[in-house]
Amino acid sequence: MCGIVGYIGPKQATPFLIEGLKKLEYRGYDSAGIAVFDGEKINVDKSVGRLSILEKKVEQHPVAGQVGIGHTRWATHGRPSDANSHPHTDCTGKFVVVHNGIIENYLHLKEKLIAKGHVFKSETDTEVVAHLVEEYYQGNFEEAVKRVLSEIEGSYALVFLTEHEPDKIICSKQDNPLVIGLGEGENYIASDIPAIISRTRKTYILSDGEMAVLTRDSVWVMNRQGVPVNKKVFEVHWDAEAAEKGGYEHFMIKEIYEQPKAIRETMTGRLAKDDSAVLFDELKWTEDDVAAIHKIVVVACGTAYHAGMVGKYYIEQLARIPVEVDVASEFRYRSPLVDENTLAIVISQSGETLDTLAALKEAKRLGARTLAITNVVGSSIAREADQVVYTWAGPEIAVASTKAYTTQLVALLLLSLYLAGLKGAINPDRLKELIHGMKELPGQAHELLEDVQPIKAFAQQYGFCEDVFFIGRALDYAVALEGSLKLKEISYIHAEAYAAGELKHGTLALIIEGVPVIALATQRDVYEKILSNIKEVKARDAVVIGVAMKGDDAIAKYVDHTILIPATDKFLSPVLTVIPLQLLAYYAAITRGADVDKPRNLAKSVTVE
Ligand code: AGP
Repeated sequence: MCGIVGYIGPKQATPFLIEGLKKLEYRGYDSAGIAVFDGEKINVDKSVGRLSILEKKVEQHPVAGQVGIGHTRWATHGRPSDANSHPHTDCTGKFVVVHNGIIENYLHLKEKLIAKGHVFKSETDTEVVAHLVEEYYQGNFEEAVKRVLSEIEGSYALVFLTEHEPDKIICSKQDNPLVIGLGEGENYIASDIPAIISRTRKTYILSDGEMAVLTRDSVWVMNRQGVPVNKKVFEVHWDAEAAEKGGYEHFMIKEIYEQPKAIRETMTGRLAKDDSAVLFDELKWTEDDVAAIHKIVVVACGTAYHAGMVGKYYIEQLARIPVEVDVASEFRYRSPLVDENTLAIVISQSGETLDTLAALKEAKRLGARTLAITNVVGSSIAREADQVVYTWAGPEIAVASTKAYTTQLVALLLLSLYLAGLKGAINPDRLKELIHGMKELPGQAHELLEDVQPIKAFAQQYGFCEDVFFIGRALDYAVALEGSLKLKEISYIHAEAYAAGELKHGTLALIIEGVPVIALATQRDVYEKILSNIKEVKARDAVVIGVAMKGDDAIAKYVDHTILIPATDKFLSPVLTVIPLQLLAYYAAITRGADVDKPRNLAKSVTVE
């Protein structure tokens, strides 16, 4: 995720660009930049680090100009650096572009452009767009941009500016947001409404495939073929704070709803079109590399550790490599048995968790190969690990991790299938079936989020109970752990998760009349077993909420309430099963009046031991 702004009008552009970027810093904050046309040429100022660094830079060397574009970056292709910051320019410096998204075919385009003599200055996917527009410009900016849009594949919100026609800004979007703010004799562009709300409340929300040409006095919206689109003005009624959360009450619920997109982006470019293979350009492992891995240790904290628990099932069952999972704060104090035939996988949303970083260093010291799964490009963990697989969830602001968890599951599943393919441990038809199923996940997650009313009602009904138990078997047990953590950390209800077969070894003593038990029953292999555990707790008068898959007609007979997730493969179900549990925790916290985004005693990133 990145943030984009643009201005054209009679006022100075820079103050709006900086002010707008400040409002978009939640979308990314590893570098920032602006490009302003000063009447003769375009001046680009950009810098790695927080926006305040850029702000100081432009204060010291202000550029007067009434048209400009800006960007705050959340690195995807290319580490955070001055060169990789946006805006990007072509060879002549006369075309500038800012981008939010991923250009999937950039390598191919880059090769073609280099062969034609274009010189690249960054490692980003975006820079190809600036060179392409230079390549296609023949005196008509609009036509050149249209041609660029017809060549690029992937997701984008793009804004273009050129010295050749400085009286206009052009923008377009596909799968990433772009809003146009309509002023009097001036117009604005932004990734999100908070950036423009102090200037105007009249907007056009661009749809996928649309392109707009902005001048001081007009905004023309068309499709990519140039056919005009009749846009309705969307009047914003939210206050500025609500606008930052996209109209949601909290970042947590916003991030829960961002999961379909985050899941899709984490798979982007990593699944063969014909479903036959997982592609990991960033790993490029050979069969020999994989044969040399005798054991995998997965190390992480909190939610990321719970993702690792799911990862153990994935890797062991699909790739048939033994896996140990450890909490990072324990790992380095237990003299772990790790050597050069061990692959250590560390998982961390922030990439800055101190315990995880220290465990990674310890695994390296012991000779292990290391791989990080993280959401933050250029983070300490990403820099320390031998190799990195990024989750493309975008910045996660709420303390309670949601979209980071589901994308970590997707990354682990991709990795397991990649290992399984290289080891020949999976039958090609089964691989196809799973990849096909993965491609359905974003749509299924979306479907789950369409009707949250019943979950809200359970949360209201049971929100004031003192204890809740989560039970499950196999992969459902791993998801139960995450469900109970979510409930504890934001609603402060005491919650425990158990492998359902373990209850009778002690905890069953706590099951008394009216205690809510959330029973996850999505795993067909152990379905009969979980049903008998449900009977055990029902016999002690617990109230049971069963979470099962659509098509399961039996579950309702055994439980008090049912939540059904879309039908999917047993390996894919954790990505969906956790969503109602996140919602349950969220609405329980709301019912209890808790501060959802900033739960007591907790911090988003724990950089102390
Ligand atoms: C869960 O909701 C948490 N906020 C917490 O457990 C978190 O997952 C943990 O601190 C690890 O953080 P990381 O993924 O950034 O390393």
